[in-house]
Amino acid sequence: MSIYNRFILPSLVNIACGSPQIRSQRQWLLPQAYGRVLEVGFGTGLNLPWYNSSQVELLWALEPSEGMRRKSGDILETSPMDCRWLDLEAEQIPLDDNSIDTIVLTYTLCSIHDWKSALQQMRRVLKPGGQLLFSEHGKAPDQSVHRWQNRINPIWNKLAGGCHLNRAIPQLLKESGFSIKEMDSSYLPAAPKMLAFNYRGWAKAN
Ligand SMILES: C[S@@+](CC[C@H](N)C(=O)[O-])C[C@H]1O[C@@H](n2cnc3c(N)ncnc32)[C@H](O)[C@@H]1O
Repeated sequence: MSIYNRFILPSLVNIACGSPQIRSQRQWLLPQAYGRVLEVGFGTGLNLPWYNSSQVELLWALEPSEGMRRKSGDILETSPMDCRWLDLEAEQIPLDDNSIDTIVLTYTLCSIHDWKSALQQMRRVLKPGGQLLFSEHGKAPDQSVHRWQNRINPIWNKLAGGCHLNRAIPQLLKESGFSIKEMDSSYLPAAPKMLAFNYRGWAKAN
């Protein structure tokens, strides 16, 4: 792994994903998590303070990047919840079928290389009736913004750890066998529109 991905990228992600605009999405989303939870792309642990720990039986923190895990320090040990690392990619989740009540996916689907396999894995481990909570940036509805997303995407992808600006998040979820039960989408303020179109909500497996 390069020095950039190991040391610099985790700090940049921590700053960008720690913005007040993104924090308010986390504050809305995370209190809905309950039971056995799988957080996919745990990053530096920015969601952790917003869980209602009395509702969470166990939290699996799946994060393939050693740099991200290192940047998160001893955050899992200091949580009141029972938290455990899974240090691998979402394309190969090593959990049993129908074993998870809540999957949490925040600003990660943009970066997963094989999103199809990863969502299939999430669907497999989610219990019938379980929920997938998501907050993700992606494809903007305005043609002009979307054109810029497509233009900038190849460079952005290299600088931002494989992140895609232009993924149609609801479409990817639907194509992978999830039905969206609630969603709102809008440009988050104080960020370039290319980066700022946000989809948040929750879905169930069909
Ligand atoms: C922009 S960060 C978001 C981190 C965190 N979810 C948050 O909300 O702050 C994207 C994360 O996705 C992770 N990631 C990239 N590819 C992945 C994969 N194939 N499976 C799981 N996580 C992945 C990265 O390591 C990184 O931690």
